Amino acid sequence: MSFPKGFLWGGATAANQCEGAYQEGGRGLANGDVLPAGKDRFPVGLGKLKMLTCDANHYYPAHQGIDFYHHYKEDIKLFSEMGFKTFRLSISWSRIFPNGDDQTPNEEGLQFYEDVFKECQRYGIEPLVTITHFDVPMNLVEKYGSWRHRKMIDFYLNYCETIFKRYKDLVKYWLTFNEINMVLHLPFVAAGLTFEEGDHIEQIKYTATHHELVASALATKLAHEIMPECQVGCMLAAGNTYANTPNPKDVWQSMEKDRENYFFIDVQSRGAYPNYALKELERKGINIPFEEGDQDILKQHTVDFIAFSYYSSRLTSADPEVNKMTQGNVFATLRNPYLEASEWGWQIDALGFRITMNSLYDRYQKPLFVVENGLGAVDVVTDQGTVEDDYRIEYLREHIKAMKDAIELDGVQVLGYTPWGCIDLVSASTGEMKKRYGFIYVDLDNDGNGTMKRLKKKSFDWYKEVIASNGEVL
Ligand code: BG6
Repeated sequence: MSFPKGFLWGGATAANQCEGAYQEGGRGLANGDVLPAGKDRFPVGLGKLKMLTCDANHYYPAHQGIDFYHHYKEDIKLFSEMGFKTFRLSISWSRIFPNGDDQTPNEEGLQFYEDVFKECQRYGIEPLVTITHFDVPMNLVEKYGSWRHRKMIDFYLNYCETIFKRYKDLVKYWLTFNEINMVLHLPFVAAGLTFEEGDHIEQIKYTATHHELVASALATKLAHEIMPECQVGCMLAAGNTYANTPNPKDVWQSMEKDRENYFFIDVQSRGAYPNYALKELERKGINIPFEEGDQDILKQHTVDFIAFSYYSSRLTSADPEVNKMTQGNVFATLRNPYLEASEWGWQIDALGFRITMNSLYDRYQKPLFVVENGLGAVDVVTDQGTVEDDYRIEYLREHIKAMKDAIELDGVQVLGYTPWGCIDLVSASTGEMKKRYGFIYVDLDNDGNGTMKRLKKKSFDWYKEVIASNGEVL
């Protein structure tokens, strides 16, 4: 037996990519709502093209998502049919506090998630809740410049206190910030940051980071006080960086690249800024806006487990000529000649998953939770009305095997596995619907046309069996 008894098999989604109903139930506008599909998405996501309102020339896929808001009962029923033990979802901050800085929460928003969690409970599904998944109320972006402002910590904690008190009997597993390191790569998507000409972008990113790290520690404290039984995790966009050659310069470069990301978890899990980061930030002239008490807060309120997403490993070189070949829309990487890639160029590396799990476990010695993994692919509905997604089964099978090896052969402690987009949803990086991850197909195209009808793919039955056998039948 490799997967422990009670292993949390399930799937993952996020409000900004599946909920839709962006103006219903008293909800306020969020950063995800102003992210258009198409060529402007990337510059807006980087915070370099400032488009803070919606216009008629763009299509905004988050506005309708896959309409989980109105389909949640049907969707959760399908998850239960697959045997889900857990369901990862995020709360839309602006459904609870439409402007982010409101005095009182929006009851309709609170009730919506209460209904969702109770629906999960009906089927014995444990919710795993991300407090912020690429989600900032637009009012906070416009009024305060989002996380660059220290006041964000108070707004975030107020939001946390409200949801912790309301859902304390319904939710046990919490994640403070989705892919917290993504602030470096897609700062508007991840943290609502936009930049003006002449801004010291790195300084702003690390100021925002510091505020998020303090907020995360204080949220952990609050969660433990309000819900002594709960577990709070950090969440890293993980994937080890390999060196392009055995040249020690390449090896050093790969170590530095990994540290760029580990840095966040080093703070959240070990409780202090690591020396390598303090030195590097000092060399770059970046000031960390420490206030009195921050260091103690970080030290005392570390996370209980390490959640992470894994899609791919990365590859880097110290040689600027070689590194020119770097590609990728979120994480820059060289093409690894030993790996195949998805249609979106994301390289497929199941052993890299085991490597990444071992690195994280060696480093933090805390239980891991795999909260995202999967293959974004184009699916075709056949004339018989089926989706034969053998490529997805193949990807997941190999990755689950690698996870099994990490558990069985390496002794890594893993709490659960929630593959990304268990039901098709909007792609965060491209805004497309055709980049699908799900076991459940949703009839909706890139331009927002379709019936929203749900359809079980071949992988649905396959995953059902994986769960029923606790990972023995792959
Ligand atoms: C992670 C995010 O970065 O990867 C998700 O947490 C995202 O929100 C997922 O959807 C897959 O990326 P994409 O761009 O294919 O949707």
